[in-house]
Amino acid sequence: MCGIVGYIGKEQAAPIILDGLARLEYRGYDSAGMAVYDGEKICTRKAIGRLKVLENITRGGESMPGTCGIGHTRWATHGAPSQRNAHPHTNEAGTIALVHNGIIENYIPLKKKMEEKGYRFVSETDTEVLAHLLDYYYRQDPLEAITKVLHRVEGSYALGILFADHPGEIYAARKDSPLIVGQNDTGCLIASDVPAILKYTRTVYYMENQEVAVLRGDSLSFYSMDEEEVAKEPATIDWDADAAEKAGYEHFMLKEMYEQPRTIVDTVSPRLRDNGGEKDITIEELNMTDEELKAVRKIHIVACGSAYHAGVTGKYVLEGLARIPVEVDLASEYRYRNPLLEEGSLVIVISQSGETADTLAALRESKARGIRVLGIVNVVGSSIAREADACLYTWAGPEIAVATTKAYSAQLAALYLLAMKFGRVRGVLTDTEFRSLSDSLKCLPDQIELLLGQKQKIQRFANRYLGARDIFFIGRGIDYAISLEGSLKLKEISYIHSEAYAAGELKHGTISLIEDGTLVVAVSTQPELYQKTISNIVEVKARGAFVMAVTNEENKAVEKVSDYVVYLPGTHPRFTNSLAIIPLQLFAYYVALGRGCDVDKPRNLAKSVTVE
Ligand code: G6P
Repeated sequence: MCGIVGYIGKEQAAPIILDGLARLEYRGYDSAGMAVYDGEKICTRKAIGRLKVLENITRGGESMPGTCGIGHTRWATHGAPSQRNAHPHTNEAGTIALVHNGIIENYIPLKKKMEEKGYRFVSETDTEVLAHLLDYYYRQDPLEAITKVLHRVEGSYALGILFADHPGEIYAARKDSPLIVGQNDTGCLIASDVPAILKYTRTVYYMENQEVAVLRGDSLSFYSMDEEEVAKEPATIDWDADAAEKAGYEHFMLKEMYEQPRTIVDTVSPRLRDNGGEKDITIEELNMTDEELKAVRKIHIVACGSAYHAGVTGKYVLEGLARIPVEVDLASEYRYRNPLLEEGSLVIVISQSGETADTLAALRESKARGIRVLGIVNVVGSSIAREADACLYTWAGPEIAVATTKAYSAQLAALYLLAMKFGRVRGVLTDTEFRSLSDSLKCLPDQIELLLGQKQKIQRFANRYLGARDIFFIGRGIDYAISLEGSLKLKEISYIHSEAYAAGELKHGTISLIEDGTLVVAVSTQPELYQKTISNIVEVKARGAFVMAVTNEENKAVEKVSDYVVYLPGTHPRFTNSLAIIPLQLFAYYVALGRGCDVDKPRNLAKSVTVE
């Protein structure tokens, strides 16, 4: 997730671009760059680090004169944060410059083809292939070259492009990544998000998927991929600046919850490939051959907080789909418990920030013992990503709210991919099972969208529990794993005491805390355990509990014993946690909101815990 801004018109472009990028830093902040047409040629400047560095080296944009330019703030996906990998990227002659947000999924074969044609790549990014492809197809007609290139790429993109021999124009295009076009009396702008241009205009045009825009100082046109002109009506933005940064959502947490479908697509689709009609999982970053994967005898998952909870789900999924033994540890425990690590073990550390001190220490401890470590990390170039032997990135983009939602969902998706890969190479999954898993995985984003659509219903329910003293979450097996995360979400942002229990364990003590009206959230998504969980629901009901059940559509029996039911769309039984977590996140969010808590910055907590 990166930020793009561009300007063409009567004003100096660089200061406007810098100002806009500053409002998009929430989208990424590991490096930044600009390209401005100075009257003769395209000048490019890039800097690693926060936007401030670019501002300083260009003296607030003064050292880059010109009225037509594009800029970018980067959140690294392909290639670590570095000057070379920062955008804009150019063709070799420097006559075409572009900024990109998204992922070009087929960049490896495209890059190979371009290298065979003699093109030289200077970065490790997927984006650079676009600059060379544009160069290859360019015959003085930018629109023609752009559509030719975009017909050949798979994945997502929002693009801003300059051509040195069309100095009065900015070209823009988008597919599955956001990009808006704005217009005012002085010129036209592009941006990844509204806050970047709100200071300059409230008149915007929303680009549809696979459209190209041509911006000139005094006019705008839009085209389809067939180069047909498309008519478009402007919209007026009436948000204030703060609401705009959250794209109109009240909190980053809610916005990030809504980004979960996209996050899963970004994490899964580049790795779940179609090989001539057959699906296959390619995780190039693993740096392990199928033989090496087959030789893994045991997996240790180590993490903290929600990442640990993702690991608990991972245990059920990996053991279920690949029949490989998995141990899950809290990093703070693992590092001091002198764990038994046999040869043939693989340690998987999971971390959104990639900087959590205990998780990093667990990684170092494992490596020191000669055990291979795989990181599942969100922040590219972070310490864990760099020190792990291999790193599988979750492409969730920057997460601002302290309580994780989209990074957690991406971690689950990454673990599913790993489990399917292991299941495949170990010969546990048949072709039919693999196909059914792939199909289920592909449906998850739409199903999450459907569940998010129930937010009002969940809010009404949550409002009844604003004064609750204790709330319990119960579930069996994989449902216990999601109960842990549901309970953590609630307590961290609403400050209501909550515990998660394996449903069968409740009667060994905790049931004494159930009183008249105590809310118990019972998660039941595993058909072979429906009946068992119903028995546990009946046990707590007998002590006066009010029960909210989260279950599958087919489990109608649960209605008879529960007071409130949230039904989940059908998916593979190993993937239900990706759906069950949605109503639990919404519930936690609305309880916290109703209690007037600071949802995005709960008391006493930090997003990244870099101390022991
Ligand atoms: C902190 C955060 C949690 C997070 C945990 C692990 O406690 O508040 O939301 O799950 O750290 O963070 P990591 O960055 O390693 O995933």
